[in-house]
Amino acid sequence: MLNIRPVRRDDLPAIKGFTDREIGANYYSTAELELMFERSRLGDTRCTLILEDESGEIRGIRITYPPGQWEHGKGEGLKPELWPFDLKSTAYFQSLFIAGDLRGQGWGGRMSAAAIRLLREAGVKGIVCHSWKESPNNSSTRYLQKLGFQMIAEHKEYWRNVNYQCTRCGNPPCRCTAQEMYLILHPWRLRRPRSEGPA
Ligand SMILES: CC(C)(COP(=O)(O)OP(=O)(O)OC[C@H]1O[C@@H](n2cnc3c(N)ncnc32)[C@H](O)[C@@H]1OP(=O)(O)O)[C@@H](O)C(=O)NCCC(=O)NCCS
Repeated sequence: MLNIRPVRRDDLPAIKGFTDREIGANYYSTAELELMFERSRLGDTRCTLILEDESGEIRGIRITYPPGQWEHGKGEGLKPELWPFDLKSTAYFQSLFIAGDLRGQGWGGRMSAAAIRLLREAGVKGIVCHSWKESPNNSSTRYLQKLGFQMIAEHKEYWRNVNYQCTRCGNPPCRCTAQEMYLILHPWRLRRPRSEGPA
C-alpha cells in the first residue's frame, strides 16, 4: 500500500537519503531541504507531497512551490516573458522523483495531479517546471505532457553550476538539458459573441 501525503518537517532526514540516492549525491543539502519545507507552505498545508510505503519509507517526492515562494530553479535558464501568466501567478514544480522500482506505474502522475488540485483550489493560474530531457525512458517529459504541460524553451547544460553527482553524467559538471514547460490552470473564459438577433 502506498500513500500520498503532504511533507512534514520530521521527513527531512529521510528525504535527504532519498534524494542523494535517486537524484544524485548532494543535489539537495540539508539547508536546502529546510528551505524547501518553508517554501512549500500553501495556506495551512504544504504542497510538496511525499509517497510513502506501509513501513513509512519514502518512495517518492513531488517538490512544489506556490507563487510568491520561488523566483528561479536550481539551474540557469527561465523565460517568464514567454509564459501566459507572470511569476506572481505561477507555481513551480521543482523536482519529482519516484523510486526506481516504482517508475512507469503512474505514481508520478498521481502525485502531480494531487499537487495540481491543491494549487487549483488556491486559485493559482499556472505551473512552470524544468523537465530533465535525458531522464531514463524519457519519463520526465512524457509524464508532463500527459498532464497537459506545453514546451516553452530548451536550456542546454542547465545544471552545469550545480555541484552534484548527476546519476547520468557522474562528476560535475552535469551536461544535461532542461526543457522549460508550462501548464495553464486558469480556465480561459472565451468571450461570447454579441447577440446578432433582431434589435
Ligand atoms: C519522471 C518520473 C517522476 C515519472 O513518474 P512515473 O511514476 O514513472 O510516471 P509514469 O508512470 O506516468 O511514467 C511516465 C513515462 O515514463 C516511462 N517510464 C517510466 N519508468 C519506466 C521504466 N522503468 N521503464 C519503461 N518506461 C518507463 C513510461 O513509458 C511512461 O510513459 P508512457 O505512460 O507514455 O508509456 C519517474 O519516472 C522518475 O522518477 N524518473 C527519473 C527522474 C526524473 O526524470 N524526474 C524528473 C526530473 S525533472
